[in-house]
Amino acid sequence: MAAADAASHMAESAAPARFAHIIGWGMAVPERAMSNDELSAFVDTNDEWIYARSGIRQRFIANESESTATLAYKAAQQALEVADILPTDLDLIVVATSTPENIFPSTASLVQDWLNAHDAGAFDLSAACSGFVYALNTAADSIRAGSIQAALVIGAETMSRILDWQDRSTCILFGDGAGAVVLQASESPGGVMSSVLRSDGAGGDLLAIPSVGSIDAEESRAGANGYKLYKMYMAGGEVFRFATRVVSESIEQACGLAGITVADIDLVVPHQANLRILQAAARKLGIDVKKFMSNVEEYGNTSAASIPIALCEAIEQRRIQDQDHIALVGFGGGLTWASMVIRWGIPKPSEQHSSMLNRQRRHVLYRIAKWRSRSRRLRRRVNKRVKGFA
Ligand code: COA
Repeated sequence: MAAADAASHMAESAAPARFAHIIGWGMAVPERAMSNDELSAFVDTNDEWIYARSGIRQRFIANESESTATLAYKAAQQALEVADILPTDLDLIVVATSTPENIFPSTASLVQDWLNAHDAGAFDLSAACSGFVYALNTAADSIRAGSIQAALVIGAETMSRILDWQDRSTCILFGDGAGAVVLQASESPGGVMSSVLRSDGAGGDLLAIPSVGSIDAEESRAGANGYKLYKMYMAGGEVFRFATRVVSESIEQACGLAGITVADIDLVVPHQANLRILQAAARKLGIDVKKFMSNVEEYGNTSAASIPIALCEAIEQRRIQDQDHIALVGFGGGLTWASMVIRWGIPKPSEQHSSMLNRQRRHVLYRIAKWRSRSRRLRRRVNKRVKGFA
């Protein structure tokens, strides 16, 4: 080995191990809750059927001033508050969503601008209801590889905007919301321990929202496939069978990779699609269904937002203790599915931070974010004019 190579090898092996820990969390839902009874006023359904088949009682629906980005922004602010870091400390913002504000710019870039997170890269990630676990894995890998220190990972959706409100087999199931976590590098062992990401594109037609560039975009083809552009289509029964199979399989795989058994899992935080899916998965895994966090009753299926929202509520309800093993599991369109094992444990915040001071700094940064954004746009316009005259 050449001397330079040997030196770099030694430096590498001397580098402390890096772990990716969740140090902050937050969630946001629209102001308006819609009950099953309200739904049945305009779709041929009823509370009894919906609750018996899905476990859902209500969902939250965005009003005109609420959107995927505004919900994501609120959840992000809360997560930064809990983490007690500044938006300027973030290196990366990933928003997992199937209902982005635009094809581009990304919802993540909007959030980056509103937060004044001017040193962060930002992108959206599309993996449907598995998106949050995919995004968390991406950010955790970047942290463990040493390329970033802190990341904001968000799952945010306004499913209400892509539902066919005349299709009773889908519109009863979904809702709007956002959840966010802050991930940070640490030398203390734990945090994200393993991930299993999978896809089966052959099942893509079972659950879809055809969009710009779709091969089903032509009206005739869209009609033939039962697809409507920008509207969700779902083959509910087949998705149900797929979900019950992959939830148990992938949790077992993620446990194996983390070097633990399913019995070591203290809490499963699954994608909230249908209570019956969770009950079937618990049976297959041979673990008590009480170990499955469930809040589908209150929020319905919020797609990529459901896992971080459920995680927030589990933390608030004190269902997660230091050193607990948590399994996250998502499944949905793609088809995609993903599991992750986390050993919970929040490293102590560094001494130099004073919470009070940080809170004030965050507020100042949010307040000047709009001004900063406007002044950058103005400068671009002035530059264009000046160049035009030259
Ligand atoms: N209200 C009342 N009746 C309804 C209804 C509704 N909203 N939707 C369907 N029905 C009727 C059907 O027309 C059917 O009537 P029929 O027997 O006279 O033909 C009957 O209820 C049973 O329908 P079916 O689709 O077989 O019900 P199900 O028990 O499979 O439940 C889902 C339907 C959608 C709740 C279930 O398939 C499911 O949860 N699938 C997974 C969905 C999911 O998780 N998707 C997201 C993954 S990320």
